[in-house]
Amino acid sequence: MNDILPADSPVWQELEETARRVFSTYGFREIRVPVVEKTELFCRSIGEATDIVEKEMYTFTDKGGHSLTLRPEGTAPVMRAFIQHKLHAADPIAKLYYCGPMFRHERPQKGRYRQFHQIGAEVIGVDDPKIDAQLLAMLVNYFDEVSIDDVELQINSLGCPECRPGYRQALVTFIEQRLDSLCDDCRRRYRNNPLRTLDCKVPGCRQATLDAPSVLDHLCGGCEDHFARVRRYLKNLRLPFAVNPRMVRGLDYYCKTTFELLTNRLGSQSAVAAGGRYDGLIRQLGGPDLPGIGFAMGLERLVLLKETADREHPAPALFIAGLGEAAADEAFRLMSLMQRSGIEVEMDYQGRSLKAQLRRADKLGAAQVLIIGEDELARGSAQLRTMADGSQQEVRLDIDTLRTLFT
Ligand code: HAM
Repeated sequence: MNDILPADSPVWQELEETARRVFSTYGFREIRVPVVEKTELFCRSIGEATDIVEKEMYTFTDKGGHSLTLRPEGTAPVMRAFIQHKLHAADPIAKLYYCGPMFRHERPQKGRYRQFHQIGAEVIGVDDPKIDAQLLAMLVNYFDEVSIDDVELQINSLGCPECRPGYRQALVTFIEQRLDSLCDDCRRRYRNNPLRTLDCKVPGCRQATLDAPSVLDHLCGGCEDHFARVRRYLKNLRLPFAVNPRMVRGLDYYCKTTFELLTNRLGSQSAVAAGGRYDGLIRQLGGPDLPGIGFAMGLERLVLLKETADREHPAPALFIAGLGEAAADEAFRLMSLMQRSGIEVEMDYQGRSLKAQLRRADKLGAAQVLIIGEDELARGSAQLRTMADGSQQEVRLDIDTLRTLFT
């Protein structure tokens, strides 16, 4: 779990502010949900046989004896809130986005942390493949806006409850013929979650599953048509993508379209954003039978990709140096008034020498310093020094003059 220090926060702010701006152009509105939920919510939505639920959740019993979990992702909590507040009664179509920390007890490595942050977006109530393509267009547009390139969009279809069982069976049969070549984990879980075998990183498992059956050969007519239309819309929008039939998502709620934005720049290939369709999820959680699709981006990974970019260090517009107690009091009063007018001003709080105060102003990067000496204070004036060339001019010491000079 990381601290995000002041030197890093401008990048975080840019990433978050750009998401707010871009997502609202596409009609998304923000939803904020708690960081803890009932454990059961994640077991029912993400799935008992997933890595997340099996071994990565921060789960505890609260004083009331309830099992609670720090959210490992945002989709299930957002659906829980959508159902609980009956948002569908006012409008069965909802476009929602969220931003915040998620928690997974994973093995930490570059780009993989135990508290990490996601910005996610969810569209509820539209099953047309145009929305799949539009969501991807928004994601790609966001990456353009934050100037992150070098990412590849991969898409897949995971079928639906009608065609998935047939595919699962074909995969189980295939795996059973190769059990000897598979790792212990794959052998243990292939019956519950055979798709995970395709995602196993162990070289033996990779090798053994090279010619595994493809999900795309088992799609029913409806899923095939949906996926063909998604690809057609992406082509119409000139969004480059690759079809990856081996893409397996680590959460069970997906159906039909799934996708990942991948980069090679964080060590092994990793996803900076990922998501897909989850048409049965809302009903499964006790809500109406509405389809859904969404994605989440990992902010830490975006920050790592932007690391080489320039980081701006904000500097105050003015530093006020007061010499002597009365001048320091006046400096303090003027600083507060200017700050209330939205001007960034700093001063020295320790009554130090002019030289020390100028050094502090220089360190903070202030372009100008207002020097108030005792004589000047008596005359109602002060020296305004431009730090770049050391030139000084006398100015009237009143707030209106200063406000005009600095706005
Ligand atoms: P996910 O693939 O589990 O999907 O996570 C989405 C993104 O979160 C990943 O692509 C990655 O960038 C980031 N991420 C995940 N785990 C970590 C970690 N331990 N450290 C740093 N970054 C991480 C979901 O969470 C789904 N809720 C996405 C979604 C929304 N699907 C539909 N709607």
